[in-house]
Amino acid sequence: MADETHDDEGTPASPDREVRPDGGAKGADDVALDPWGSSTVDDYRKLFEQFGIEEFDDVLPEVPTPHYLMRRGVIFGHRDYRPVAEAMRNDEPFAALSGFMPTGDPHIGHKLVFDELIWHQQQGGDAYGLIADMEAHAARDIPWDEIDEHTESYLLSLIALGFDPEEGEIYRQSTNREVQDLAFELGTQANFSELGAIYDFDGETEVSYMQSVVTQMADILYPQLDEPKPTVIPVGPDQDPHMRLARDLAGRMRYFKVTEAYASFELEDGERELVGRAYEALAAEADDPETDVRCTDAADWLEDESPDHPALWEAVEKLRSGGKEPLRPRVRFLDRNATEEAFEALIKAVEGEKRVYEGHIDSFDLDAEEAEELARAVEADHGGYGFLPPSSIYHRFMTGLTGGKMSSSEPASHISLLDDPEDGYDKVKAATTGGRETAEKQRELGGKADECPVYELYAYLLANDDDDFAAEVYEECVTGERLCGGCKEQAAELMKEFLEDHQEKREEARELLEAADIELDSPRK
Ligand code: TRP
Ligand code: SF4
Repeated sequence: MADETHDDEGTPASPDREVRPDGGAKGADDVALDPWGSSTVDDYRKLFEQFGIEEFDDVLPEVPTPHYLMRRGVIFGHRDYRPVAEAMRNDEPFAALSGFMPTGDPHIGHKLVFDELIWHQQQGGDAYGLIADMEAHAARDIPWDEIDEHTESYLLSLIALGFDPEEGEIYRQSTNREVQDLAFELGTQANFSELGAIYDFDGETEVSYMQSVVTQMADILYPQLDEPKPTVIPVGPDQDPHMRLARDLAGRMRYFKVTEAYASFELEDGERELVGRAYEALAAEADDPETDVRCTDAADWLEDESPDHPALWEAVEKLRSGGKEPLRPRVRFLDRNATEEAFEALIKAVEGEKRVYEGHIDSFDLDAEEAEELARAVEADHGGYGFLPPSSIYHRFMTGLTGGKMSSSEPASHISLLDDPEDGYDKVKAATTGGRETAEKQRELGGKADECPVYELYAYLLANDDDDFAAEVYEECVTGERLCGGCKEQAAELMKEFLEDHQEKREEARELLEAADIELDSPRK
């Protein structure tokens, strides 16, 4: 092997390779995560640092039989995917949902998301594919007759690639009453300033556009309407602002918020850590830790020890105003949106020592996890949703065949799933490569597979599940064994075969689509 990062599983696109091909618009150095903008993401590492997206590699070992897009680092990031992986391992319920704006023909970039949904369905998840027709109409001004045409086309490709519409659910936003009702409820928890800050909305922003945002929030939480369950939303990183808002709203809808505290007052995360440290130290020396450690003692301890911590003075101040109140670790259930009955029921349900206050209950015998579970169960029993914060996984954008961004408005830059197979063949043959100026140089220096859109086609699509084949292409390229002419010929052939096969399957998918419970003719036309 020519390159160590090219590890023994044969994963050719190891994510620790510095900057991966990402279709980044040149010079777009700042990561602008804008769901409707044309920006692409230039450097995915910034997403980890600036936005708290985690590296997918960190959860990869927890996924039972990872998809090749995961193994090859095409899926590079996630938010909170662990609960989904855990449910998968334990054969517990989980869901996967993603949405597609029917603005044009489905292309090979959409195929990534289709494949992610299908894979989660095959792993036992409830899978949902939705058509974001309201968003397309509101945010992109697409007329309803075009929307209908594209809707059918997306769904045919989704089914042709393996989505089972009998097991899973496909729907369009505009005819899903439950989604719209949920959107309305979620809208009670967000206001204009907040949406404005997240999406750059201003006084000119159309109301329907804003409605399409709460509709997407409802899409994301829709799989949990029957019961709370881990849910993953596979998307591109441009959708991350939606994910953050959806995770927030999921929490705001909850009846109770569970926190950990040491006394009557609330603590922020950093303060809690410090108070915890002081408490541990003092309790170890106290005769009776339940009564002998006072707030002021902890304040004194912190001032003496003066740990270098940004929350030090806030913690000391809170402890000082707590005075002689004893510190005792507890979990607290804060009443957020609970009905009176639900609050009463929770009081009864908390076992062991507890104290009940005006808007909260302190429990001294439950741990945080037990408390979370209890709060969710009581909520679900009393008409609440009990939403778990939805998870997400993020895939890299494919580089355009002509080098820059893959763009729907530039046919040569992408391959539509509806392209004539011969045209697909020609586009691959005409693609930019990571090759050297001359064959001689290529033999000497090797090609730059990491910067090659053709290599991407192999890794993202053409090599399919065959890691050895993808690795072989990579190897041969970077060692100079493979020259671009032959390499493109092979890729073009494979692309042609893929398109032929896919288009045949699309025809076969018609029957399944007709049987599915979805209106292909919009009543809004
Ligand atoms: N906003 C998404 C896009 O631009 C489409 C979408 C609508 C979506 N609802 C969703 C994506 C729910 C994921 C989950 O393509
Ligand atoms: Fe790209 Fe293939 Fe040329 Fe390597 S040999 S640079 S993978 S086209």
